[in-house]
Amino acid sequence: MEMLPLIIQGLLLIAFAVFAYFSLVRSSLSLAPWVPTRSKDFARVQSIICLKPGQKLYEIGCGDARVAISIAKRFPEALVVGVEISPLMYCIACARTFFSGVKNLRIQCADALKMNLRDADVVYVYALPKTVNQTLMPKLRSELKRGSVLISYSFSINDEGVVVHSIPGEANIYVLMMT
Ligand SMILES: C[S@@+](CC[C@H](N)C(=O)[O-])C[C@H]1O[C@@H](n2cnc3c(N)ncnc32)[C@H](O)[C@@H]1O
Repeated sequence: MEMLPLIIQGLLLIAFAVFAYFSLVRSSLSLAPWVPTRSKDFARVQSIICLKPGQKLYEIGCGDARVAISIAKRFPEALVVGVEISPLMYCIACARTFFSGVKNLRIQCADALKMNLRDADVVYVYALPKTVNQTLMPKLRSELKRGSVLISYSFSINDEGVVVHSIPGEANIYVLMMT
């Protein structure tokens, strides 16, 4: 009987380790750990995006979904899809989306690197430069249709066609139209 609390403690420890791995470690090993886009830049991001009714924007690694919610509100006739690998951030994103009342935002718990994004009109990403350029870009180059737009917050995309939106002292926003 004395062993029981020890077994329960051990099981709880294992459960916590599994949860921590899937919620925190795996995302850091993939595209980036959770660091949010600064809320003062939401309006800048929105001003760069052009979404016609029926078009689709994917946010790769949507974190707590604050950016996705702001875009969904700005373009109510477009569809916004937030993809998040961390179950913890996914739950937070779902709760935020529910309480925001937006109807044109879907949150998916998935590894964006394993999804097919060929129906995207716009892709928004805030991830580490190495992972954007070495891991994500080859995939996006092969999947995204001509004319679709990739927006990278803060970190440069290595491509000649990239347009940089910069304001002194603020984070750069990099935009690439796929050709
Ligand atoms: C730098 S944060 C950006 C969060 C949000 N996009 C923002 O701008 O506020 C990167 C997010 O991507 C998620 N992430 C990392 N790798 C991923 C992958 N392969 N698929 C989906 N999400 C991923 C992380 O869990 C984290 O929430």
